[in-house]
Amino acid sequence: MGMKKKILIINGPNLNLLGTREQDIYGTRTLDDMKELLLRGAQTIAVDLDFFQSNIEGDIINYLHRNRDADGIVINPAAFTHTSVAIRDAIAAIQVPAVEVHISNIHAREEFRRVSFIAPVCIGQISGFGIHSYQLGLEGLISYLDSNA
Ligand code: DQA
Repeated sequence: MGMKKKILIINGPNLNLLGTREQDIYGTRTLDDMKELLLRGAQTIAVDLDFFQSNIEGDIINYLHRNRDADGIVINPAAFTHTSVAIRDAIAAIQVPAVEVHISNIHAREEFRRVSFIAPVCIGQISGFGIHSYQLGLEGLISYLDSNA
């Protein structure tokens, strides 16, 4: 078997409040619950998960630059999904395969949430499965990396 893959799990603004924030839309599970779910699932596979959350666009971009040696990215850009050309350009610049994930179904909400600046530079998008979106995103990313090894 090859080396352990380094996977970045990135969360954007307001997701630090997950579990208490707009519970009717985002549920009661927290970012720590998501982390536990992913770590439990990753036990049997050769991956190192690096978790990062920031409310600051530039900090997410600097984190991406710093970790350009990563094998893959699962990112919930939160509101920056719909605004950030800069995060999109950072993902395109470092050329690390990324999957965009959302807790809610962004296509079933306000019109402005249906547009993603990030999705076009990603392998794909998972949206609407609560914290399981991260799990599905990671699974999709790993099978992508395995079939492109
Ligand atoms: C979100 C959806 C975004 O539209 C919103 O701004 C968020 C969370 C989600 O995970 O459902 O903050 O990315």
